[in-house]
Amino acid sequence: MALLADVRLLLRKVKDLRCLTPRRNRVKEKWAATRVKHPPTSLALQHFDATYNVQLGQLWPSVRCALLSERKYGALFNNFSQDAVLADLEAQGCRDFIRDMDTEGRRAPPVDTEHQQLPPLWLGPDIRCLVFPRGDITRFKPARPDTYGLLGYYLMDAASVLPCLALDVQEGHNVLDLCAAPGGKTLALLQTQSIGFFCVNDMSVSRTLRLRKVLHSYVPKQFLIEDKLRVTSFDGTKWGDIERNTFDRVLVDVPCTTDRHSVMEDDNNIFNKSRTAERRRLPQLQLELLMAGIEAACPGGEIVYSTCTLSQIQNVSVVEQAICLAQENHGIHLQVVDLQPLTHMFRKTFHFAPDLHIGEMVVPHLAANFGPIYMCKLRRLT
Ligand SMILES: C[S@@+](CC[C@H](N)C(=O)[O-])C[C@H]1O[C@@H](n2cnc3c(N)ncnc32)[C@H](O)[C@@H]1O
Repeated sequence: MALLADVRLLLRKVKDLRCLTPRRNRVKEKWAATRVKHPPTSLALQHFDATYNVQLGQLWPSVRCALLSERKYGALFNNFSQDAVLADLEAQGCRDFIRDMDTEGRRAPPVDTEHQQLPPLWLGPDIRCLVFPRGDITRFKPARPDTYGLLGYYLMDAASVLPCLALDVQEGHNVLDLCAAPGGKTLALLQTQSIGFFCVNDMSVSRTLRLRKVLHSYVPKQFLIEDKLRVTSFDGTKWGDIERNTFDRVLVDVPCTTDRHSVMEDDNNIFNKSRTAERRRLPQLQLELLMAGIEAACPGGEIVYSTCTLSQIQNVSVVEQAICLAQENHGIHLQVVDLQPLTHMFRKTFHFAPDLHIGEMVVPHLAANFGPIYMCKLRRLT
């Protein structure tokens, strides 16, 4: 009885308190009215369900499931750091997927009758990327600075290293990274320490600032001097007007629908209704960037086009159009370089889409949740 009386007293006090609080200051839940009805992540998923179901067929349900699950990272080892992090990472069970490649595959690449068979790719021995084994979803700890303030590794999608390996940079090459920020692939290419002159560009000034911060956190000052490395913020589509027939290697890692981000994060999402026009313009922008990259390469030079989307319209179709336009408008003949020897080497680490007629694509998989990454390599014949 006494307990009941206490409860009643308490309830009355609460009621009195509510009366003391002016009505206008009372907190009223409005979530039902203010919550966005169609968040960008749902719009992205609806869009992907409609297009990838047709494009990927029976592969789509498993890829969709992986896209919606926690992604897997790789630790790009920083050769410039003095810390003994490699042994530490290996002790945790990681392995360098580049050294650990399928050497059988390297000696006996599948014969492709459609494209010309090329000698095995030279894999920059200095690019090292550590991953946890298949099915192991352990997260990496954040990297720590060494005594010189340089970080020991950079966390990125391990499949993002593949376009850098496909670029096949050799001693003394002039290299252009046309859309470089925030700088994961730039950093991977710098690890080779064989680039003669490196031009690193991104149109976004704020993202170029992030790129500069990344470079300063990973690379000693003596490697960041102007006559070796130039960082710019130009519109990459205009590059052909600035510097033509110049670079031995060009990486064109274009803005795209960033499929994994689009289904997971509402912030900065290209499927936000206010960005519909920007999203629809993407294939045209991608084509213009690739054309600029092709023009910037020297005859005999090689270009790698890459995205992080599964979209055929942003991948294969862009490359096909660029090949035609380069010939029709500029008299540039291009050869598609077969990347099957490369994918064959890494088939134990990544899942590759079957039957793409141009380029190669890493598709997300629950046991190896990397990608999506599409890449295609072109060689300028003229
Ligand atoms: C996929 S991200 C590049 C990621 C980067 N390669 C990396 O590995 O960290 C695409 C980049 O293209 C840049 N971009 C968009 N339009 C551009 C343009 N017209 N010219 C140059 N860069 C552009 C964006 O600012 C964005 O940073």
